[in-house]
Amino acid sequence: MKTSSERMKTFPDHFFAGLDSKIKELQARGEDVIRLDVGSPDLPPADHIIDALNRSAAQADHHGYQPYLGPDELREAWAETYQRLYGVNLDPDSEIIPLMGSKEGIFNLVMATIDPGDVVLIPDPGYLTYNRATRFAGGEPVHLPLIPENDYLPDLEDIPQHLLHRAKLLWLNYPHNPTAAVADLAYFTKVVSFAHRHNLLLCHDAAYSRVTFDGYQAPSLLQVPGAKDIAVEFNTLSKSHNMAGWREGVAVGNRRALESLHVLKTNVDSGQFRPIMDAATAALTGDQSWLIKRNEIYSQRRDLIIDALRSSGLNPRKPMGSLYVWCPVPPDFSAEDFVSTLLEQTAVSLTPGTIFGANGAGYVRISLSAPTGKIEEAMQRITRMLQRSGGKVG
Ligand SMILES: Cc1ncc(COP(=O)(O)O)c(C=O)c1O
Repeated sequence: MKTSSERMKTFPDHFFAGLDSKIKELQARGEDVIRLDVGSPDLPPADHIIDALNRSAAQADHHGYQPYLGPDELREAWAETYQRLYGVNLDPDSEIIPLMGSKEGIFNLVMATIDPGDVVLIPDPGYLTYNRATRFAGGEPVHLPLIPENDYLPDLEDIPQHLLHRAKLLWLNYPHNPTAAVADLAYFTKVVSFAHRHNLLLCHDAAYSRVTFDGYQAPSLLQVPGAKDIAVEFNTLSKSHNMAGWREGVAVGNRRALESLHVLKTNVDSGQFRPIMDAATAALTGDQSWLIKRNEIYSQRRDLIIDALRSSGLNPRKPMGSLYVWCPVPPDFSAEDFVSTLLEQTAVSLTPGTIFGANGAGYVRISLSAPTGKIEEAMQRITRMLQRSGGKVG
C-alpha cells in the first residue's frame, strides 16, 4: 500500500514536532521546561473580541458554510484598517482575501502562481513556509542571504543573473522572523522598482507589522506607489491581536494574483467559521489602544532578555519589532549545541537559527511570548549556566 508520495519523502519532520517529544521527555522527568522557542502569544485577545465571538456563535444561522470571501464586513474592516494605518486604498471585493491564518495563504499563493522549474527568491534565514511551498509546487527555492552587515535586507544586486531570469516570485518579511530586523519605506521602494524591472510577483509577509516597540511603526509595502501592480501583502491577527489559534489572516494587493489564490482556495477549503470572522471584524474595528499596552509588555520582556544576555557576554541586537530576540551563540559553539545543552542543563528551550536556513548558523531565536516571570526565570538559568561554564558550553 502506498502511503506517501515521493514528494513527501523529501520533507523532513517539522522541527517543532521533534522538539515537542524531547520536551515531553524532560517534563516526564519532572523538569519545569520554559519554552522560549515558539512565537505563539501567551496573552489573551481583548474582551470585546471574545464577546463578539460569543454573540455571533449564539446566532442560529451562523453555523453553516459561508461565502468563500467571508462577510463583506470583514473585508471592509481590513480595507478600513489599511486606510487608517497606511493610507492605502483597497477594494474589498477584488483586493482582499480572508485566510485561515496567513500560513495557509502563503503556501497556497505559491501553489497558485509557481510552475515546476520557476525560481522563487527567499530570505535566508526566513520563515520555512516560503521554502516548503516552493518545493511542493516543484519550484526552485533560491536563498537570499540576510546578514547583519546589510541590516538583514537582501542585497538585490547580488542575485546571479541566470537565476534572476528564471525568478517569478520574491519574498520579503518585515519585521522579520527570525532576526527581528525591520525595513523602511525607502528599501521597500527599491524592491518594488526591482520587482517591476524583473517582472516578479513581490510578496510581503507582514505577520509582525503591529508588534512594534519604542514608538516604531512598521510600514506596509503597499504604501509604495505602484506596489499593487506587482505585490501581495499578507497579514494576520495571530500576532497583532493575540489570536494565533483562531486562524485569521488576510492577503491584500494585486488582484490578478489574488484571483489565482481565490480559485485555488475554492478547490481546497470551504471558508471559515462565521463567529471567528465576526470576532476578527470586531478586532479590526474596535478599540486598538490595548495593543499599545500589550506591546509595552513585550518591550519590557525584550529589555529583560537583552540585559541578561549582554551581562553574560552575548551581543544580541535590540529589536524594534517582532516577537523575537536574535542572539549570537557563544564563540566556538554551534546553534544546535547551544540549544540542546541549554535544554538539557537548564530546561530552557530556544530555537536554533539553522532551522531558518544556512545563514541562521551561529544564532538562536528567543521568543518574547512567554509570561514575564517565566522569561525572568529562564534568563537567570541561562546566566547561571554561562557563568558556570565561563562562556563555554558543552
Ligand atoms: C513570518 C511569519 N509569517 C507567517 C506566520 C503564520 O502566521 P499565521 O498562520 O498564524 O497567520 C508566522 C507564524 O509564526 C510567521 O512567523
